Amino acid sequence: MDCKLIHVLIVALTAHVINGRVMCPSHPNCVCGGTFAVELNCNIDGRTVKINLLPSTYINIKCENATTLDYSKLPKCANEPNTFKSVSFKDCPLPDTSFNDILRQIGVSKTMSLIFQNAKNLSGYFNRKHFTGLKDLRKLLLSVNGITHLPDNLFMDINNLTWLNIRCNNINLSEELFKPLERLETLEISHNHMTNMSSNLFSHLSLLRKLSLWQSNVTWFSKDFFTGVDVLEELDLSSNGLNELPMTIFKPLRKLKKLTLFSNKFSTLPQNLFSTNEKLETVIILNNDVKIKTLPKNMFGNLSNLKQVYLQRSGVEVVPYDIFVNSSLITNISFAYNDIAVIPESTFNDQINLLELDLSHNNLRSLESKLFSSLVRLEILNLCYNSIEEVSSATFSSLLSLIYLNMEHNNLKIISSDLFSSNKQRMSITLAYNRLDFENKELKNNSWAVTRSSPFAHTYNLRMLNLSHNKFKHSFDDWWINGHENLDISFNSIQYLWGNTKYSIEDGKSNYEEILKKPLKEVWISNNPLNCRCRNFLFIDYLKDNLKSKVIDDTLIHCPIWTREACYLRFIIFISVVTTSVSLSTITLILYFIYKNQINSMIKRRFKYFSRQDNTDQYKNILIKYSENDEEFVLKEILPELKNHKNFNVQTKLVKTNSKDNFIKHFANGSKENDTVVIIFSPNYLTSAYSHVNIKKIRGEMLKTKNTLYVFTDIGPENSIYAFLKEQRDQRTAILWSDPNFWNVLISMLSNGYKKKVRFSPGIDIRSKLNTSLTSSKSKLASNSSFTRLPDWPDVYASSTFAHSQV
Ligand SMILES: *[C@@H]1O[C@H](CO)[C@@H](O)[C@H](O)[C@H]1NC(C)=O
Ligand SMILES: *[C@@H]1O[C@H](CO)[C@@H](O)[C@H](O)[C@H]1NC(C)=O
Ligand SMILES: *[C@@H]1O[C@H](CO)[C@@H](O)[C@H](O)[C@H]1NC(C)=O
Ligand SMILES: *[C@@H]1O[C@H](CO)[C@@H](O)[C@H](O)[C@H]1NC(C)=O
Ligand SMILES: *[C@@H]1O[C@H](CO)[C@@H](O)[C@H](O)[C@H]1NC(C)=O
Ligand SMILES: *[C@@H]1O[C@H](CO)[C@@H](O)[C@H](O)[C@H]1NC(C)=O
Ligand SMILES: *[C@@H]1O[C@H](CO)[C@@H](O)[C@H](O)[C@H]1NC(C)=O
Ligand SMILES: *[C@@H]1O[C@H](CO)[C@@H](O)[C@H](O)[C@H]1NC(C)=O
Ligand SMILES: *[C@@H]1O[C@H](CO)[C@@H](O)[C@H](O)[C@H]1NC(C)=O
Ligand SMILES: *[C@@H]1O[C@H](CO)[C@@H](O)[C@H](O)[C@H]1NC(C)=O
Ligand SMILES: *[C@@H]1O[C@H](CO)[C@@H](O)[C@H](O)[C@H]1NC(C)=O
Repeated sequence: MDCKLIHVLIVALTAHVINGRVMCPSHPNCVCGGTFAVELNCNIDGRTVKINLLPSTYINIKCENATTLDYSKLPKCANEPNTFKSVSFKDCPLPDTSFNDILRQIGVSKTMSLIFQNAKNLSGYFNRKHFTGLKDLRKLLLSVNGITHLPDNLFMDINNLTWLNIRCNNINLSEELFKPLERLETLEISHNHMTNMSSNLFSHLSLLRKLSLWQSNVTWFSKDFFTGVDVLEELDLSSNGLNELPMTIFKPLRKLKKLTLFSNKFSTLPQNLFSTNEKLETVIILNNDVKIKTLPKNMFGNLSNLKQVYLQRSGVEVVPYDIFVNSSLITNISFAYNDIAVIPESTFNDQINLLELDLSHNNLRSLESKLFSSLVRLEILNLCYNSIEEVSSATFSSLLSLIYLNMEHNNLKIISSDLFSSNKQRMSITLAYNRLDFENKELKNNSWAVTRSSPFAHTYNLRMLNLSHNKFKHSFDDWWINGHENLDISFNSIQYLWGNTKYSIEDGKSNYEEILKKPLKEVWISNNPLNCRCRNFLFIDYLKDNLKSKVIDDTLIHCPIWTREACYLRFIIFISVVTTSVSLSTITLILYFIYKNQINSMIKRRFKYFSRQDNTDQYKNILIKYSENDEEFVLKEILPELKNHKNFNVQTKLVKTNSKDNFIKHFANGSKENDTVVIIFSPNYLTSAYSHVNIKKIRGEMLKTKNTLYVFTDIGPENSIYAFLKEQRDQRTAILWSDPNFWNVLISMLSNGYKKKVRFSPGIDIRSKLNTSLTSSKSKLASNSSFTRLPDWPDVYASSTFAHSQV
């Protein structure tokens, strides 16, 4: 109870604020409510009536369930008579009294418009008395079911009406009915059944500007139907069953600006239908139920005020070339949803002011190259849902103002040249759902050569380039670098987003970083078989991270996570591998140059070792020659060691103090071909073998002998010749007993052979070797034998030619 009271108070207050007076009436039959507008729920003799009002503006009275109503029991809605703009009755029964009496009863002194609607069966008939006294009424809407008759004198007392709307079923409209309504400007008769309209129905309505016979089942007009309706500006004959129009029907309508003909059944339209409608601005012919296959010649021609022509869903197949001739103010033309296959080249020749052209949803197969040549102001061109297969830039070259081109859902395969290269404005171009791949196959020298070129290579700064649902296998770099805002290449067969055309090099990351300056706002790439390669990962990440582009549906998400991670690791791995290998090879090179000689000789030795290995399996005969004085040394030091080696068959030969002959014989027959001779060369041996021989000769012999090893053992008295020979010895055939590695060297010499032509390796410092061998002489015999050391060799012996008389 308290709640309700507060509620009522609030409403009262609100009403008070709005009107300066407490509006909500206290009436025994009604409960007041509502927040903004006042709502009264009344119960009048058991019938619910809802009243809804905004002071000075409107009163709506809605009857629920009332086939009869005592209007005198309605509450007073305003304490003092008030002016309302409109009063409406919904689903209420016809009153017995005048509407004027009812309005006074509820407190309305004046209203401009009256609305009486009843969607249920209305019993009774309207008559003149219902409208008496409503001298201020300007607008009247009667929308009722079930009334079949309106008396001729019905509007006699409301002849100042300017606006009349009759939505009644099946009313017999007589000529007399509208006669009093001389001031009528707008007349709407709809939802009616007027199959046959008499010709003089509106002839007195000399001020009528708008006439709608919308959905009135008018199927036939007499040809002078509009006679006398001189100032009519808007005519709507939509949703009638009209299947023809008399040629001269619109002739009287010299002021006609807008004609609407939705949903009729024209199969043809007459010639020169609009020849007198010079003021015509807009023609709308939509949803014709029957195909108008051929439009009449010059249909919209010579109409110097015509601005908009909509002729859609009417089954038009043929458009005459002169349909718009000499009508140069047209801004909007739509022929959408027809069956047009060809539009003649000169159709739009005079349309220099055209802003929007819609030819979508037709059967166009090609576009004449000069079709759009006059449309320099055209902003919107819609060609979607046709069957166009090829276009060339010449077709669009005049469209310098174009901002939107839609060629979706065609069969476009070839765009033969650069499109829109001279357009400066930001355009949106959508070519979705075509067969484009921008590839051109040509037969060259008996083989197919594929050339790829983008018709957008020189098109810059597009707001949108939509190439989705095409047949692209390769991307084109101009998509990314020409400064477009949005790019949609989803639903194609693209594997690599970047790197197919001239700008690119393999994996050329630095490349797009240089070129791709203007960021794309959004990029759609979903549903492409993108390769899980770094090329794609890096490129997309570059778009996202560096250019802050929004990449929609990153299809690389399906790629295994490691493929992505590897890209970033890969660089590091690559760098490390490169660095490592570069430094390794540098080191190797340096080492090579440092140890070049050693390596060479080692390789040679190895080589020889292996090549000799094969025939060293046999025993080797070794003949040891020595001087008598050295016998002890040989027997004690040399023989036992050599005999330890199974491969050697060792013999000894004592060389006695001898003559020159012996010497010669010795060298000539001393050994067999394959025998190796080891000479224990000491001052003793020198004395016994070469007592009379010239030093030069000895050395010559020593160099010449084959299969002979000289073991320099410093046993015996000091001898300068011996020292000389020792110093000048051939490294390949001579070995020092004092060499710490003596046995290893000797055994390997004996095993491998040492003969053949082995070049002298230069650069071996004999002196230093000699010194080393002398200073570090660790001969086993050095301590317990009486071998004397040799003095340092004087430099003078470096010269080979000198006479020797000592020996
Ligand atoms: C309408 O009237 C019928 C009986 O006449 C009644 O049964 C029904 O409840 C009423 N409906 C409303 C909404 O008042
Ligand atoms: C209107 O009345 C007719 C007969 O008078 C009846 O057949 C029809 O159902 C009624 N319609 C409504 C909506 O009450
Ligand atoms: C119509 O309006 C005029 C003045 O505009 C007035 O003289 C005349 O009485 C009005 N007619 C009716 C029926 O109220
Ligand atoms: C309409 O008027 C004609 C003659 O004026 C009459 O023959 C016909 O029956 C009327 N139709 C209706 C539905 O009242
Ligand atoms: C108009 O005519 C159609 C048939 O042509 C019919 O179905 C429809 O009921 C008619 N409308 C009116 C309001 O009589
Ligand atoms: C319409 O009226 C004209 C004469 O006024 C008549 O010739 C024609 O047959 C009528 N048509 C229909 C469909 O009633
Ligand atoms: C256009 O109108 C002019 C006169 O205003 C007329 O001479 C010309 O024949 C008309 N052109 C067409 C195609 O009807
Ligand atoms: C074009 O229309 C103008 C008038 O609007 C007229 O004077 C002119 O003759 C017409 N030209 C043609 C070729 O019909
Ligand atoms: C006519 O085209 C212009 C330019 O596209 C457009 O702005 C305008 O809304 C169109 N007019 C109508 C009535 O569609
Ligand atoms: C065809 O081959 C000839 C020689 O083999 C060559 O000179 C010519 O350029 C080739 N033409 C094309 C189109 O490749
Ligand atoms: C591109 O065109 C297709 C087909 O009309 C559409 O589905 C898609 O949303 C368009 N892309 C963008 C980014 O608007």
